[in-house]
Amino acid sequence: MSSTQRYTKVAIILHWLIAFAIIAMFALGWYMGELPKDGPKQTAFDLFDLGLYTWQMDEPSSARTLYFNLHKSLGFSLLWLILFRVYWRISHTPPALLASYSALERKVATGAHHLLYLLMVAMPVSGVLMTLYSKFGLKWFGLEVFAGLDNADLRDVFKESHELFANILLAVFIVHVLGAIKHRFIDKDETLSRMSLK
Ligand code: HEM
Repeated sequence: MSSTQRYTKVAIILHWLIAFAIIAMFALGWYMGELPKDGPKQTAFDLFDLGLYTWQMDEPSSARTLYFNLHKSLGFSLLWLILFRVYWRISHTPPALLASYSALERKVATGAHHLLYLLMVAMPVSGVLMTLYSKFGLKWFGLEVFAGLDNADLRDVFKESHELFANILLAVFIVHVLGAIKHRFIDKDETLSRMSLK
């Protein structure tokens, strides 16, 4: 495959790294939301109760605080990686869609790609704004980034947006993956291999 028909190595690495990070952020977001607000405070946590890794803390905290801080710290890091990906996408024209795509496939694929970029940015930005207007602010792996402004109304606006964007992102993500599966197993074309490192 020539270089005009496949993605750059950087684009491919960013695609898979961010895809798996977003899946992990969904799992963490759903998991932490179920944790009780008045849970016991501890200094040692068996991470996700898997028996694989014990997280030692300096100060006792509830499981909810630990996983919220982890979600916020990972999400804040992911924001910068996503912004770099957007910069890379703008500065490196991607290969054209395969000539074999129908007009409808072109519309769905292009629409899904644009929506994915929009939502990839909207997710962490709404999360950061929710955190800014919360009581707690943002500590990036323990390092203070900003204090919370404690405005419940604005916090709720961005909390609702974060949840709405998550639902839309999940729906578009499913369409995107179903498309990739169709091209791999039904059309048996190059779609998936040009987004893979050889
Ligand atoms: C691509 C990045 C991100 C993804 C995919 C993501 C995903 C999610 C999901 C699925 C939830 C659960 C929503 C629900 O209960 O319906 C959630 C909740 C939450 N997220 Fe994120 N998130 C991201 C980035 C961030 C960032 C950067 C922050 C803050 C710095 C953040 C802060 C929060 C908070 C505080 C909640 C809990 C809301 C509540 O129940 O009070 N998120 N996130």
